[in-house]
Amino acid sequence: MSHHDTLNALHGKHILLGISGGIAAYKLPLLVRLLKKAGADVQVVLTQRAKEFVTPAVLETLSQRKVLCDIFPTHDAKQDWTEHIRLGEWADMFVVAPATAHTLAKLAHGLSDDMLSVLFLALRPERPRLIFPSMDGEMLSAPAVQRNLALLRQDGCIIIEPEYGELASGLIGKGRLPEPETLFKHITEVFATSASKWLAGKCIVVTAGATRERLDPVRFISNFSTGKMGFALAEAAAEWGAKTILITGKTPLPTPPNVERIDVESAEEMLAAAHAYFERCDVFIAAAAVADYRPEHIAPQKLKKDSDRLVLTLVKNPDILLEFGQQKRAHQIAIGFALETSHALENARAKLEKKNLDWIALNCANDPNAGFEVDTNRLTLLSRTGEQHALPLMSKKEAARALLKLTLSKFRTDSA
Ligand code: C5P
Repeated sequence: MSHHDTLNALHGKHILLGISGGIAAYKLPLLVRLLKKAGADVQVVLTQRAKEFVTPAVLETLSQRKVLCDIFPTHDAKQDWTEHIRLGEWADMFVVAPATAHTLAKLAHGLSDDMLSVLFLALRPERPRLIFPSMDGEMLSAPAVQRNLALLRQDGCIIIEPEYGELASGLIGKGRLPEPETLFKHITEVFATSASKWLAGKCIVVTAGATRERLDPVRFISNFSTGKMGFALAEAAAEWGAKTILITGKTPLPTPPNVERIDVESAEEMLAAAHAYFERCDVFIAAAAVADYRPEHIAPQKLKKDSDRLVLTLVKNPDILLEFGQQKRAHQIAIGFALETSHALENARAKLEKKNLDWIALNCANDPNAGFEVDTNRLTLLSRTGEQHALPLMSKKEAARALLKLTLSKFRTDSA
């Protein structure tokens, strides 16, 4: 991650920083300073015991906010008894560092007798909870502590394992709270990852590869498509958080991480697999090279080479993308590919209209660096609304990212 990304990830973010009463609390003022420098707004919450290790005065000076501890309002007029609800809404992330065995137990079981534990419950459920346990090695490995950590993990908390090294007790073991710079790095990474999941909640179906249309038990009609472009699209969609279904013809390519892959053979099988998602998907991307025709009959036995001429009768295959385009609803996006050898732009635009697409990606068959089998592609994107983007020659992975960013820009938020 570059320095620039780091600053962006934290700028304007609201962080609740819960500090519980372990010796490692002395490291936290430095973390507050790092977070503030990166542009975050930090609200510190201490447990009663934490005050023995680090003073509110230091933390208030560095965070420029009143440090909280009790649930009930003090004489300070600025805190009222609904403050925990307001802060629960306000916070983008809850960090607990150090998290003592006692605080872990409270958080794992929903006990809420001070501001830290109440805020942990009041925080909006989708916000990340980042916990840094820190204690003596024996305590850390105690079954009760491990059980509580497992419960918190189950609840979706991110637990960062403590480091191995010299402990306050003088013993060497696992249990050290990482240095402030490391805490800072973890916090930044969580923000950067969640901001980059701009397709979370969307369902994207990608068709890829060539279909095979059987002639007899050992032969088929197909084409040179390898599925690389479709696999790259599925990989990028999944990386950005989309639920991704990849319906593919036969190919040796490995399934990208977090992608649900459905292997099919013929165009008809591909249509059946895709059809199950027609209603449910938000985006349908047809990158497959589907055979336009299939043999009318599949010979039950291997065809013999008895005669000098063999005439095959082919019948038209279903057009999967056309079928999706015809039935798609207003919120759904249909994206097709066109591989043209002549009048490329004109033909691509005609296809866009005919199949009722939102976008079509044109790759030119005459370009040796683009199209089938190679790892690079040169795409021209045309939209229904008349937009046209001629992308330069790039790797299929880069082309996939550029295509998704341009065609799905309406899903992008400011933080993406
Ligand atoms: O009409 P043509 O086959 O050239 O259109 C290409 C686009 O339509 C591609 O996106 C391809 O994946 C899709 N297609 C399809 N079903 C077919 C033929 C093409 O989904 N039977």
